[in-house]
Amino acid sequence: MSIDRILVVGAGQMGSGIAQVAAEAGLEVSLADLSVDYARKGVDRILKSLNRQVEKGRLTEEDKEDTVSRINCVPDYSAGGDVDLVIEAIVEDPKVKSKLFAELASICPPEAIFASNTSSVSITSLARDSGRPDRFIGMHFMNPVPVMQLVEVVRGLATSDETCEIIVDLARRMGKEPVVVADSPAFIVNRMAIPMINEAIFALSEGISDAEGIDACAKLGLNHPMGPLALGDLIGLDTVLSILEVMFQETGDPKYRPCPLLRRMVAAGRLGRKSGRGFYEYS
Ligand SMILES: NC(=O)c1ccc[n+]([C@@H]2O[C@H](COP(=O)([O-])OP(=O)(O)OC[C@H]3O[C@@H](n4cnc5c(N)ncnc54)[C@H](O)[C@@H]3O)[C@@H](O)[C@H]2O)c1
Repeated sequence: MSIDRILVVGAGQMGSGIAQVAAEAGLEVSLADLSVDYARKGVDRILKSLNRQVEKGRLTEEDKEDTVSRINCVPDYSAGGDVDLVIEAIVEDPKVKSKLFAELASICPPEAIFASNTSSVSITSLARDSGRPDRFIGMHFMNPVPVMQLVEVVRGLATSDETCEIIVDLARRMGKEPVVVADSPAFIVNRMAIPMINEAIFALSEGISDAEGIDACAKLGLNHPMGPLALGDLIGLDTVLSILEVMFQETGDPKYRPCPLLRRMVAAGRLGRKSGRGFYEYS
């Protein structure tokens, strides 16, 4: 089966990045969000990213126009369902994702593959609601998508070998390095990264050091390119909280309990870069 036309649902920081790398790989992309205006904001983000590459001399104006011409904003996902593959990148909420896949099941061709960019939700349980568990898979891109090399390809219990092979090939076509992992809470990358971010927030809330001090320890002491609090701001603190909640619910292990300060940050709308303020301020 060849993948030529895809629908990306969710045009936030991840969905817009996925749409960009898919269009750069020559795929025809429909981009949907809660409204066409939200989808257009995703295209604005893509334009900014491509313009930066043009300024740096890494991309010609012509190639930029070519990429953008392959992205079509649709008023909602029901208008973009005639595709070979759907990649979902909406809010990290299992119920909202399940509802979306149940609706997509009746809109998209039965042979279409469904992929979720979820950071933590069980691929096996999302697959159940899609009506096509053998053609359901996790395609977990990293942030920022155009820059980061890895895609975790997450196999649900019922994902077929054929689906896995198609998605591994597609990830390579998109210029990424796929690693196939089994379905488990938060997979590999976030299983390691999210508890570290949560621990850093506990350290901050206990007054052990300030945000700059905690991040400096990770950068200078562990050779991390970015500290855990800055990373939390980049991911989005709402997403960090949702991932911890899924990990805690799925395992029952108290080591995944979200730090109360994280909950307060999210309640205050301090979500990190996307809201202009998290542990740091962004202009
Ligand atoms: N932020 C990260 O670093 C990161 C990395 C890898 C994976 N992810 C995952 O990607 C997904 C999206 O995260 P994000 O950071 O792009 O979030 P975001 O908040 O930037 O974007 C989410 C988008 O989904 C839209 N949306 C919400 N509900 C919708 C629905 N029912 N139908 C259509 N659109 C809907 C929102 O309007 C928003 O534009 C999440 O599952 C997250 O866990 C995030």
